[in-house]
Amino acid sequence: MEDSQRSVILSGLGTFVPHKVVTNDELALHVETSDEWVRTRTGIAERRLAEPGQEVSQMGAEAARAALADAGLQATDIDAIVCATMTPELPFPATACLIQAELGLPRVPAFDISAACSGFLYGLDVVTRLVQSGAYKRVLLVGTEKMSSILDWEDRSTCVLFGDGAGACIVEAVDEPGVGIVDMILGADGSRTDLLHTPAGGSRLPASAETLAARQHYLRMSGKEVFKLAVKEMGAVANDLLERNGLTAADITCVIPHQANIRIIDALAARLELPLDRFLVNIDRYGNTSAASIPLALEEARRLGRFGSGDRILLAAFGAGLTWAGALLKWQ
Ligand code: ACO
Repeated sequence: MEDSQRSVILSGLGTFVPHKVVTNDELALHVETSDEWVRTRTGIAERRLAEPGQEVSQMGAEAARAALADAGLQATDIDAIVCATMTPELPFPATACLIQAELGLPRVPAFDISAACSGFLYGLDVVTRLVQSGAYKRVLLVGTEKMSSILDWEDRSTCVLFGDGAGACIVEAVDEPGVGIVDMILGADGSRTDLLHTPAGGSRLPASAETLAARQHYLRMSGKEVFKLAVKEMGAVANDLLERNGLTAADITCVIPHQANIRIIDALAARLELPLDRFLVNIDRYGNTSAASIPLALEEARRLGRFGSGDRILLAAFGAGLTWAGALLKWQ
């Protein structure tokens, strides 16, 4: 992508998180856990949870409005909408269509990407190609999740890990060469779907009294295995991106990792031989927000001045599927 005359940049970033903060101590009132366990095992201190009626499309639309304002654009300047989510508002139609309606933006194409926590980077790859081809001028990419709606609030091994929120970016091509998206890698291993999935509610096991009684509509995860594979695949994708672009980790100003567990981020830092202060970490405040995690972290890093014009940024994600993805950016 680097040699193309037309660079693809993220021209606007925006985020939205619900107001409601839930601390580990508050969760400990409902499941057998403690602030100490959650902090030391995951790095999470609190998370934001959507209020009843606060929907994934509304959160996505709020993030989108912020991204449009950041880019100095109107909704009518957008000519396609892509939404990454593992908590779609409805089984169908696509949450992207609901966001389109929220934004009052009829007729432009709108579709969803399903790649769990790697969804935003999967979406970024697709959207980059849409604008690079010249088929679309500006595309809105949204990562939005209401993880609280698929958590088993009686399962302490998963309910403490996740949070709700949304992030969005505007992706467009510019004539300035050598900036923006430099390279991306996507991967998946469909032989391990069992490690992280929701058993019922799809066409295999439609909702029934039995599936409800068996609590099969909630997220299930084999945490230990997922942990090990997340470290392995995020490390591999980061190293592959560096190697095939003739870079070393020292050339990276800021790493934006998927926020799943501080110990996964620590392990990634050790693999890349980079100090943790080169990584944006906000898992303490938001937990794992899946497809919203990368844009929430990227926007925060920019806001804090953690990178500027000409700096290289590395993004890496891992999630259900199993899926993984990495992106190398040179900020415009
Ligand atoms: N509070 C207290 N104790 C707990 C809790 C809790 N909330 N949860 C689990 N425990 C207990 C377990 O029952 C177990 O007890 P036992 O030894 O008596 O059986 C003990 O703590 C240790 O559990 P482990 O599973 O060994 O804990 P581990 O160190 O693996 O940490 C965790 C668990 C945090 C889930 C970790 O495995 C993890 O982060 N996994 C990766 C998650 C991830 O990366 N997800 C990314 C993708 S997400 C997506 O795509 C949606």
